[in-house]
Amino acid sequence: MEDEGQGAATGRRTLIGTSWKMNLVPSEAAAYLDALVPAVRDVLDRDLFVLPAFPALATVRERLTGSNVAWGAQDVHPEDRGAHTGDVAAPMLADLGCGYVEVGHAERRRDHAEGPGLVARKVGAILRWGMRPIVCVGETRRADPATTATALVGDLDTILGGVTAADLPRVIVAYEPGWAIGEGAAAASPEEAAAVHLGLRVWLDALAPEGRSVRIIYGGSVSPANAGPLLGRPAVDGLFVGRHALDPLVFAAIARTGIRRT
Ligand code: PGA
Repeated sequence: MEDEGQGAATGRRTLIGTSWKMNLVPSEAAAYLDALVPAVRDVLDRDLFVLPAFPALATVRERLTGSNVAWGAQDVHPEDRGAHTGDVAAPMLADLGCGYVEVGHAERRRDHAEGPGLVARKVGAILRWGMRPIVCVGETRRADPATTATALVGDLDTILGGVTAADLPRVIVAYEPGWAIGEGAAAASPEEAAAVHLGLRVWLDALAPEGRSVRIIYGGSVSPANAGPLLGRPAVDGLFVGRHALDPLVFAAIARTGIRRT
């Protein structure tokens, strides 16, 4: 078994981001970023991102261009263009400067019956257009970490099956246990999250040498209180924050967790 500390030596940069989900109209997004950008300006030892809803993307691009915070989208259609009313294609997101696109979130699997085959096609579109897919995987019911990791590896095997070794370093995996997401839920313990991450890490590392560059971030009730202990685990390469990041200064506090000044 790979020990948890080994991954930290591979130079994966810490990644901390938030999805606003279906929150913040464009004018609220502008005010949010006016508070966030100065509060994280000196956070240079890690990568940061925000994922607004589609209507706020142009505003977010305007506010974040030239800053140290990247932006992206919460979903994408697998095809590049065509008769798909209401959908948004990867070239549109790339044109808006998106660096990241989230796919496979538990809420999309629940609300839109998305499965791993469709998520795999979305990953293909994101990579084709030069962006980074954030692939969310997670169990609905809490189980022991080894059982969970085995199930999630099955999901990832389908989702990442078509990804070339050269493209792997752009992939981000987000471990998001369904039972830990949303109002009233509690985060996985750092030990539990680390154990699942380690199971995924072993599989990714065995895929190809480039698999070692894939970052595995944790999401599900991340808050300023648990961000430190979670990030303190070498198997946890970053954090994906939901409702607690709807306040820009709380997100800034989480983004600054364990900051190193050089
Ligand atoms: P939450 O959402 O932080 O509100 O639990 C996390 C997520 O869905 O990524």
